[in-house]
Amino acid sequence: MRIIVCDILSRLRTSVKLTRSYCTTQTYVGCKSDEAPCKRLFNQKLFPEGISDYVTSEVLKFSPSIPVEEAITPPASWYSQPQFHTLDKASVFRKHWIPVGRVDQLKEPGQYIAGFITDDPYLVTRDETGKLQAFYNICRHHATLLVDDNSGTVSKFQCPYHGWTYTLSGRLAKATRLRGIKNFNAKNFGLIPLEVTTWGPLVFIKLSTDDTNSSDDLGVQLKEVKTRLDKMGLDNLRFVERRHYRVKCNWKVFIDNYLDGGYHVEYAHKDLAGLIEPKDYKTAVFDGFSIQSSSGNKGEKEGQDRIGSAVLFSHVYPNLFINRYGPWLDFNYTYPIDSENCEVVFDWYLEQDAMNELNSTEKEAKIAEDIRASEKVQDEDIVLCERVQKGLRSTSFEWGRYAPGVEQADHMFHVELATDYRDYLNNMKPEVVKQ
Ligand code: FES
Ligand SMILES: [Fe+2]
Repeated sequence: MRIIVCDILSRLRTSVKLTRSYCTTQTYVGCKSDEAPCKRLFNQKLFPEGISDYVTSEVLKFSPSIPVEEAITPPASWYSQPQFHTLDKASVFRKHWIPVGRVDQLKEPGQYIAGFITDDPYLVTRDETGKLQAFYNICRHHATLLVDDNSGTVSKFQCPYHGWTYTLSGRLAKATRLRGIKNFNAKNFGLIPLEVTTWGPLVFIKLSTDDTNSSDDLGVQLKEVKTRLDKMGLDNLRFVERRHYRVKCNWKVFIDNYLDGGYHVEYAHKDLAGLIEPKDYKTAVFDGFSIQSSSGNKGEKEGQDRIGSAVLFSHVYPNLFINRYGPWLDFNYTYPIDSENCEVVFDWYLEQDAMNELNSTEKEAKIAEDIRASEKVQDEDIVLCERVQKGLRSTSFEWGRYAPGVEQADHMFHVELATDYRDYLNNMKPEVVKQ
């Protein structure tokens, strides 16, 4: 019965173009009763007019089956047009596991982290039983954000607007002044759940309720990365510092810059270039991730202790970087803000027993110096990415080419994107896309 009611409401809403769903069972977003109408309503909200022929033709300009030696890069529209921000939201950031924080931020019941994945506010918390729970950070009354985009500790989630109150496991526990309301069941007005899992020290969530892309799939995706990281020591690390960077470029520009196989290092990172052995630089691409690695310079250059004897830069599709060098590991997460802005978050970890020969003041100074050196590379990358974004806006630039010996990971990233875009279009407009 529930399925039928949902479906009828969905069809009604589609046919008369209502802008809100009145579903007395569950919300369409988290509704488990029947997937099909939920998807329909979701797509209608993202693409109220349907997917335009323009977006379709721009998606099809990059073919995932053309090898890197012959391929052109994706067109500039992928990096600058607002419709592609919506497409990224719909086809990439809903579908995949997205890193949102660290397990150490959620040790105790009531600790929470909150943020946005594109336009969707989420919160992750640990409930009274110690279980991790993730929800949309949205009050079910009139959509107010329950908690700020941040982290903290609460005993329950009370909406700051009219006081509706939810338990840590998302149940609506209190809603006053509802006398006279009809067709309302508090059981159906809990916070809308999201999938959540952990890998190593990281917490991931997934917006889509599709059965594909399980947390086991994420584990498989990360297995090879973990094997390599383990060789360089993944355990015995401690979190040191987090920094946020707002970058005036599309999120994919930032990722492209990282995946060019060290191509730009000698031109744009003069200090770093002396610390990494360019002839040992290798790129390996896999399904869903890539690994760039090299050895450190054998000499005794200043700053070599930060880089050590080997470096490993891994990209996990779509937006996670794992960088291991010397005694350091840093995770970077890149989040789209709109079509021409993104936020990059860095978390630095240091080996527990690193710098043991230093006293605490010296150690603090050395950590600050190493993070400053790391940030200098980041600042240099931001300048590059913002210059690219300005170039992409020009009417003169349509697409570029790959240097096939070094930019295989860039190409693989674009293949993954193209596959996600085509899959999504295939569902929406099966008559147009033939893979
Ligand atoms: S919007 Fe949350 S209680 Fe009204
Ligand atoms: Fe760089």
